[in-house]
Amino acid sequence: MYLRDHWYVAALSSELESKPLSRQILGEHVAIFRSESGEVVALADQCPHRGYPLSLGTVVGDQLVCGYHGFTFDCSGTCVAVPGQDRIPSRADVRKYPLVEQGLWVWIWMGRGEADLSKLPATPWLVDTQNWSSVGGVAKIDAAFEFLVDNLLDLSHETFLHNGSIGTPEVATTPIEVEVDEEANVVRVYRHMKSVDCPPFYSRTTGLKGKIDRWQDIEYFAPGFYLLHARIAPVDQPPLPDGTDDHAFHMKIFYGLTPSSEGKVYDFWALARDFCVGDDEIDRFLEKMQAAVVQEDVDALNILQVRASGTAEVNEVSIKIDRGGLAARRALVAMKDAVARK
Ligand code: FES
Ligand SMILES: [Fe+2]
Repeated sequence: MYLRDHWYVAALSSELESKPLSRQILGEHVAIFRSESGEVVALADQCPHRGYPLSLGTVVGDQLVCGYHGFTFDCSGTCVAVPGQDRIPSRADVRKYPLVEQGLWVWIWMGRGEADLSKLPATPWLVDTQNWSSVGGVAKIDAAFEFLVDNLLDLSHETFLHNGSIGTPEVATTPIEVEVDEEANVVRVYRHMKSVDCPPFYSRTTGLKGKIDRWQDIEYFAPGFYLLHARIAPVDQPPLPDGTDDHAFHMKIFYGLTPSSEGKVYDFWALARDFCVGDDEIDRFLEKMQAAVVQEDVDALNILQVRASGTAEVNEVSIKIDRGGLAARRALVAMKDAVARK
C-alpha cells in the first residue's frame, strides 16, 4: 500500500529536456517532459488509443504526440488531435499529475484529489544559487522503499559501507539523540561528533585538515523527503549564541525517497553547500564522490532485497543506533493506518 497524498521527487530538473522521460512512481507509469515554453508536465504514460507508452512519443511545441498512431495531447492531458478524423473521442484525455520544479528537483503529487501545496517539502537551499551551490543525481534501487528508509536513518553504516569517503570510526561510535514529532510525522536524529578526523569528502572541499567537529542532524519527513544538515567546523567552535555560524562549513544533503513499484525505489539525492559556491571543480568532485557513496548503498540494498526475498527469515536484533530507523517505521505504519481508517 502506497501513501499517495504526498509529494515525491519525480525527476531531476536536468533530466527533462525535449525527450519525454518514463518513470514508474507508486506503481503508476508517468511520462514527464518539458514543453517548448519550459513548463514541466507529467501525464499518465499510457495512450488511451492502444496503450502505447506516451513517454515514447515526441514533444512538439507544447504538445505530446503518441509515437504509435499520433494521438496528440496538450499540457493538461487533453487530447487535441487524432489521425483521420476531426471528432475527438471524449474519453481520449489522459490524467495530468501536478508537478512543482524547485531547484534541481521536480516534485510530483501522487494524490487523487487536489495537490496540497502546504505539504510540499521546503528546499530553499536548492533555489538560492547566490549562497548555495548544488549538485544532484538519482539511482534506482531494486529494493523495497523501507530498506532505503532504514539505510538513511542509521548513518552508523557510513563507518563500514562508506569507509573510504565519508565514514570515519566516530560515526558509528558516537551516540545519537532521537526526537519524533508524531503529529507531523517527522523523525529527527542528531549525531554531534567532537574532535574527529576529517573524511576526504570534507577535507578536499573545505580545506580543513586534522581534527574537526562534525554534526549530522537528520530530519526525515515521512514518507518521501530526508534532509541531513551537516556542519563541519574547527574543533570547539560552536555556533555563536545568536545563531551566527560563519566559521563553519554547512552542507545540506537531501534525499527524495520515491517508491517505484513493489520492491523498487528511486533514490534521488542532492547536495547543497555554502562554501566554494560557484566552483565547478568542487561540484564535479562532490558529484563523483556522492554518486560513489550512493552506489555503495544501492549495492548493499540490492543484496538485502535478494536475501529478504529468499526463504531464510531474518530475525532482526535492534540496538540503540536503530532508534531513528524504528521511529521512522512506526511513523510510516501510523500514516498507513490513518489512511486505512479513512
Ligand atoms: S497507441 Fe497512441 S496513438 Fe495509437
Ligand atoms: Fe549510505
